[in-house]
Amino acid sequence: MFCQDPRHLIIWSSFLVLVLIGSSSAAAQTAESDSSKGIPIDNATVKQACSSCHVADEKGRLSRISFRRTTPEGWQQTIRRMVTLNGVDLDPETAREVVRYLSNTLGLAPEEAYPAAYEVERRADDQPYKDAGIQETCTQCHSMGRVLNQRRTSKEWALLMAMHRGYYPFTDFQAFRRSGPATDEPQPVDQAIKHLSEHFPFQTSEWAAWSATMRPARVAGTWLIRGQALGLGPVYGSFTITPVPDTEDEFTTATTYTYARNGRRVTRTGQAIIYTGFQWRGRSSEDNGNTHREVMFVDRDLRTMRGRWFTGSYDEEGIDITLERADSQPVIAGVHPLALSTGTTETLRLYGLNLTGESPSNSIDLGPGIEIMEVLGNNDESFDIRVHVDAEASHGYRDLFFDRSNISNAIAVYDEVDRITVMPSTGMARVGGIRFPKQYQQFEARAYNDGPDGESNTADDLDLGIIDANWSIEEYAVTIGDDDTQYVGSIDGSGLFTPSLDGPNVERSGERNNIGDVWVTATYPAQTMSRSQLRARGHLVVTVPLYLRWDPTAVEQP
Ligand code: HEC
Ligand code: HEC
Repeated sequence: MFCQDPRHLIIWSSFLVLVLIGSSSAAAQTAESDSSKGIPIDNATVKQACSSCHVADEKGRLSRISFRRTTPEGWQQTIRRMVTLNGVDLDPETAREVVRYLSNTLGLAPEEAYPAAYEVERRADDQPYKDAGIQETCTQCHSMGRVLNQRRTSKEWALLMAMHRGYYPFTDFQAFRRSGPATDEPQPVDQAIKHLSEHFPFQTSEWAAWSATMRPARVAGTWLIRGQALGLGPVYGSFTITPVPDTEDEFTTATTYTYARNGRRVTRTGQAIIYTGFQWRGRSSEDNGNTHREVMFVDRDLRTMRGRWFTGSYDEEGIDITLERADSQPVIAGVHPLALSTGTTETLRLYGLNLTGESPSNSIDLGPGIEIMEVLGNNDESFDIRVHVDAEASHGYRDLFFDRSNISNAIAVYDEVDRITVMPSTGMARVGGIRFPKQYQQFEARAYNDGPDGESNTADDLDLGIIDANWSIEEYAVTIGDDDTQYVGSIDGSGLFTPSLDGPNVERSGERNNIGDVWVTATYPAQTMSRSQLRARGHLVVTVPLYLRWDPTAVEQP
């Protein structure tokens, strides 16, 4: 692109000027109606940083910038391109201020941000989009989530396409234009502009409503953590938020939580910003330096936050988080284990907050057939109880009540494990460790009881929670003499798959990379006479590192 021939430079720079000032033939027709929209920019830092190229009109709207809305990550990504490709010089502090102002002024409403929350939560799976044609055109190089998190005037949608074609001319061959004989049908790129302008317009009732009521979110205080980590199971704990003095949207945090299955306790401290009145972006660290990014959405009533905390070179390790405001009342978060078999006596641990001072034996109720025999001592965050399950207790979930707090379907009462499952059904890992980092894949095995109808995979099946399965790797035979199991990597007792090194392997025939695909198999001892063990498996693809990444960088640090 950046070649020496001066003629090319002239063509190139005139393209940039056209895209910058917002002129393109495809866009011209809609330009007039679009120019009545747009949100003025009333911030000295943004004007200073951007208006040398993005000229202000008489209403204080900056070209391009005032005509599209997106997430903090979306703004971050654009600003990053201004720096990397358009020669803008910005210090980090100014960039953060610009992201903050633009996310608040030209952001998304909660209803607009939720459908593609997975994009900013860095979940591995892009969700299928309702229009398969648009999805095909726009997901050749990046996720659909990136597109769904944008709201633009139709002129801005057209200019975005022009940016793609100008900077990345292969876009035409790869996706934007059809090859083969000419037809009357519009090109994919024109269909995309039309579709996106209709479904993701700049002006929406959601944004009008949210921007009218939006205000700094008052989240200071203590919150109850309920989390789920794939393969590791539930986490419970507390999250305390303290405002940074003289700010409205910056916070520091103190977190403690416990993995209920193995009792591992974690403490973290962190900091965060809330963008657009509801988008929490934070970062927290353990003493050992292990860092999480926190992406959460604050509910409108300021009583719940939901999202994902994650880490790993590919953001593949994470906890799904729900936070609930915990005032001084005792509140229960969850219980371990999640299932009790009939006719047994067991110890249960209940997790929550503000538990001292209560007399648990009086205020706890686990429902019919479960007798509470003894309370074995409590602290503020947990207590243990001995329970006996009647041999005749009916199978099914029990709601748990404690003081004024309750959990629906907290515990399953069952007789035996009828089947197990492996999650995910298809996983992906990337070799690494030399030139690129490894991408790990955690698997999870869960046990189920067939429920009252005695049939597997029906609505009344009981989820008995995660089990400690025996894990192994088996060949997924696709070629003659397939030898992937020897090279792709290994799985440990907790279901965590670690891929092998990247690069050619001289020990493998043809010096192939350590990539391939295999079955990941879980087995578990059966409790019936008819079968000796229960089995389930998932497919695992072990592939090459991501050599090229067009990912937005983190935006959360104040
Ligand atoms: C040196 C000139 C220059 C400066 C300064 C500049 N930009 Fe740009 N901007 C461009 C050019 C050229 C384009 C069109 C090509 C492109 O999209 O990269 C553009 C396009 C854009 C777009 C449209 C991108 C899209 O997704 O369609 C946005 C939004 C934007 N700039 C935001 C900003 C912000 C915010 C700032 C201030 C921090 C800024 N720009 C500063 C040159 C500049
Ligand atoms: C050939 C690969 C390719 C295809 C196909 C493609 N994109 Fe992109 N897109 C990119 C790249 C690369 C970037 C990052 C540009 C940058 O910031 O350097 C990008 C960035 C974006 C952005 C963020 C722009 C910003 O900075 O604000 C949006 C939105 C987007 N694409 C939408 C789309 C849509 C809509 C389609 C389908 C009509 C599409 N893309 C198809 C490669 C592609």
